[in-house]
Amino acid sequence: MTEIQEFFDAAYRSSERYWWRQAHRYSTDPDDHRASLMTQSILRWARQRPPGRALDIGSGEGTDAIRLALLGWQVEAVELSGVGATKVRRFMREAEVEVTVHHSDIRDFTPVQPFDLIVCNGVLHYIEDKSAVCKQMQEMTTSGGMNAVSLWSTFSHVPPPHRVVPTFPDDEDGAVVGAYGPWQKVLLYLERNKQEAGHHDMDDHAHSFIKLIAEKPFKTNGSG
Ligand SMILES: C[S@@+](CC[C@H](N)C(=O)[O-])C[C@H]1O[C@@H](n2cnc3c(N)ncnc32)[C@H](O)[C@@H]1O
Repeated sequence: MTEIQEFFDAAYRSSERYWWRQAHRYSTDPDDHRASLMTQSILRWARQRPPGRALDIGSGEGTDAIRLALLGWQVEAVELSGVGATKVRRFMREAEVEVTVHHSDIRDFTPVQPFDLIVCNGVLHYIEDKSAVCKQMQEMTTSGGMNAVSLWSTFSHVPPPHRVVPTFPDDEDGAVVGAYGPWQKVLLYLERNKQEAGHHDMDDHAHSFIKLIAEKPFKTNGSG
């Protein structure tokens, strides 16, 4: 078991809801998520098209996955923490939706079919080789499909409460932004020194983020 897996197992065991403690967590109305640029952008995009197939990478307790399932999307979730994966299954039943949960490292995951939407929220700063995972996400995406990626940037130092496991923030113009160069951007936002609201169990601290949402181009050689 990796240090990251142990860290998140302990976090998810520590309370009923580690992330998304607000009552409106599963609202599919983008206007209900004014403090989360990623959530409202994903919802606005997803609601503009017929429901397709979505993948939530590092789904934690499954809030993004369950929200998309409530919108009628066919959702799969990949989560490294066994405690997290078990909670996604329980919370999905409580929300009366279906999410296919894979307890796996994303680097070991092979999809049966590609996805129209891939969410990777807060995960890539735990993975050193981001280029490989970006390539994997891009290959798993249909043409015209979307990837929504959020990770810590090197604009600010990793705050002390997080230095208990290895982390790998990316430069603002680093591997992740570079990997999505040819993709059509829906959002590319560099959030600097944002006060963290998600951890109820840590001292006050701030993070800097890269938030990137982009659509996969259609091939121009006629093969679609
Ligand atoms: C900061 S949490 C974010 C959880 C969720 N995406 C959210 O926004 O509520 C990061 C999650 O990524 C998972 N994770 C980290 N590395 C992973 C990997 N290599 N494969 C799959 N999941 C991973 C962790 O277990 C943890 O649940």
